Amino acid sequence: MKVREILVTSALPYANGYIHLGHLVEYIQTDIWVRAMKAQGHQVTYVCADDAHGTAIMLKAEANGVTPEEQIASVKASHEADFAKFLINFDNYHSTHSEENKQFSELIYRRLNEAGHISTKDVEQLFDPEKQLFLADRFVKGTCPECDSPDQYGDNCEVCGTTYDATELKNPRSTLSDATPVLKTSKHYFFDLPEFEQFLQDWTRSDNRLQTSVANKLQEWFEAGLTSWDISRDAPYFGFQIPDTPSDEPDKYFYVWLDAPVGYMASFKNLCDKRAGTEQALDFDRYWAQENEHKTEVYHFIGKDIVYFHALFWPAMLAGSELRTPTGVFAHGFLMVNGEKMSKSRGTFIKAETYAEHLHPEYLRYYFASKLSDKVEDINLDLEDFMQKVNSDLVGKVVNIASRSAGFLVKKYDGILSETCAEPRLLEDITKTGDEIAAAYENREFSRAMRLIMQCADKANEYIDAKKPWSLAKLEGTEQEVQDVCSVAINIFRQLMVYLAPVLPELTANAKEFLNIDDLSFASRNEWLLGHKINKFKPLMQRIEEKDIEAMVEDSKASLAQADAPAVTENNKPAAKDKSPAIDANTDAERTDYIGIEDFAKVEMKVAKVLECNHVEGADKLLQFTLDVGEEKPRNVFSGIRKFYEPEQLTGKKVICVTNLAPRKMKFGVSEGMVLSTGHPKTGLTVVTLPDNCVIGDVLA
Ligand code: MSP
Ligand code: ZN
Repeated sequence: MKVREILVTSALPYANGYIHLGHLVEYIQTDIWVRAMKAQGHQVTYVCADDAHGTAIMLKAEANGVTPEEQIASVKASHEADFAKFLINFDNYHSTHSEENKQFSELIYRRLNEAGHISTKDVEQLFDPEKQLFLADRFVKGTCPECDSPDQYGDNCEVCGTTYDATELKNPRSTLSDATPVLKTSKHYFFDLPEFEQFLQDWTRSDNRLQTSVANKLQEWFEAGLTSWDISRDAPYFGFQIPDTPSDEPDKYFYVWLDAPVGYMASFKNLCDKRAGTEQALDFDRYWAQENEHKTEVYHFIGKDIVYFHALFWPAMLAGSELRTPTGVFAHGFLMVNGEKMSKSRGTFIKAETYAEHLHPEYLRYYFASKLSDKVEDINLDLEDFMQKVNSDLVGKVVNIASRSAGFLVKKYDGILSETCAEPRLLEDITKTGDEIAAAYENREFSRAMRLIMQCADKANEYIDAKKPWSLAKLEGTEQEVQDVCSVAINIFRQLMVYLAPVLPELTANAKEFLNIDDLSFASRNEWLLGHKINKFKPLMQRIEEKDIEAMVEDSKASLAQADAPAVTENNKPAAKDKSPAIDANTDAERTDYIGIEDFAKVEMKVAKVLECNHVEGADKLLQFTLDVGEEKPRNVFSGIRKFYEPEQLTGKKVICVTNLAPRKMKFGVSEGMVLSTGHPKTGLTVVTLPDNCVIGDVLA
């Protein structure tokens, strides 16, 4: 096998807010990929850093009465503590406010400038005369020039959706001081992105660098036309000063998004310096010099909101300064909780820290893994489903294999496994599935990997259920067989631990101790434990309790009510007019509540004939149906349509009945299904009736 040399990054979180579960989608996704690639024997380095510059951070520090340096230091410490809790195993975590980053940002800028890719232009912008600073769009509010709605931000109107320039707002005011901003002109520095169009077109389409939906989005951006990128901000600003600017101008700083991605290189350089002279030494140029582009690989994991920066600006900056460009950029979707955007009032805007106070981080790692694919799709954390899935898959299936067999082995056989394997085919089968699992990890199809692993676990449990060691143990002369069955189970459990190690590093480390082994590398998946002594089994994972989830949600409501929300984190994000709309695998970028076909398939709907329809005494909203759904006995169903129908209008009609809805006990009897209607209970409902040739009991699909 060729050992690949791979550098991996996750986007750098802003240094003015806390880490929440949305961020963790990305860090967990990246960490799992890195661990899986390391387990394959590749040389993988994973770096990240805090994104420490910008107006928002400067203002936050001011509000807290500390210097920006103090502000970013304390946030960095809290970010690192959060990441450690979630077992995110960075090789290095640095800051964009660092000497290395200054050096590289200046180097890149100078090279771009020398090559003629930088120009200057006068820009007229709103200026806060009290605060003495230029106002980014998010710091201006006023009346929409299009629809006259008051209190709209400087980039777009939330009421009518129009995008405009902040200078077009009527009655503008600064959100920082409430002062009326004035127009002021100053010189800005621009990076000539359009010059790179041909390069970017080729880059985008070659070597599978981007997901298809991302490449398609870029195509739209190309067609709309690229524009020069404003890379400077005037003082006061927290960042790096642009070198070699004329002294008669106010100080110019790099816009935060210029030095942010350079932070990837800076963090890596910092690691190279730390490791110099050790066995793990890394050669910076091997990863970043243009001529080495094909010797090593560089991958950026990012959210869909920052594709514009990573797939256009960043490769153009690198190519323009004769550095290597990324091998691939992998975008993921956004996190929804219970099918909706995270919400502070509902308690579903959950801080990493709050989660960890109530629930084990590995639950979330597994749940995200079971949802993540290589697509740019939003993922939904349904808290009920989360609890059920973790409990049934990890506790009920996987850990159960070990707990139900280890007891016998330790009690009766001193923990010693059989000398031979009683079921080699089963183990070989699971080894073979390992190849598919490894490929799924490598292709970032984690949900597929988790499904395959659970299929293996099912096989193990079916085997144990068929052999029933607990019954065998009660019979005479079955000692060998009981030991054999339990040994097979333990060996399969070991294989499952190999496969789950990238997702559950802590559980698998504890399993290693219990199994009394020290290797869980992927290559070890077919090493059978024969005549080997295991240790006493200790519970490896507890079930999630409903009350823990409730407590976490309550705590989230409480902690965010304290107004320490990261209100400013989004300020540096481009608004719609900066052409960075959300990207989705599908064209409807707004839609986030898709269900999979398997969700749809869960609903059983059948053609039903109304045998009888009656009023319900004492219930002025209900009608009672006796439905023939093709079963032995007719079903009794109540429906809230009394206001819109007389019973005889429906008798004899064919309707749609949901037949696998849990029976519901009502005051008037048990309702055994649901009759589908359209409309709204307030304004009018119409029962959906079917053509008479539909066959009673047929399933709708
Ligand atoms: N500082 C920039 C990135 C600079 S990279 C050179 C930034 N920071 S961020 O803190 O807002 O976001 C960090 C990462 O987390 C981004 O990739 C972002 O897409 C991701 N997420 C932030 N909120 C998220 C969700 N709610 N859901 C999924 N990912 C999200 O952007
Ligand atoms: Zn408007």
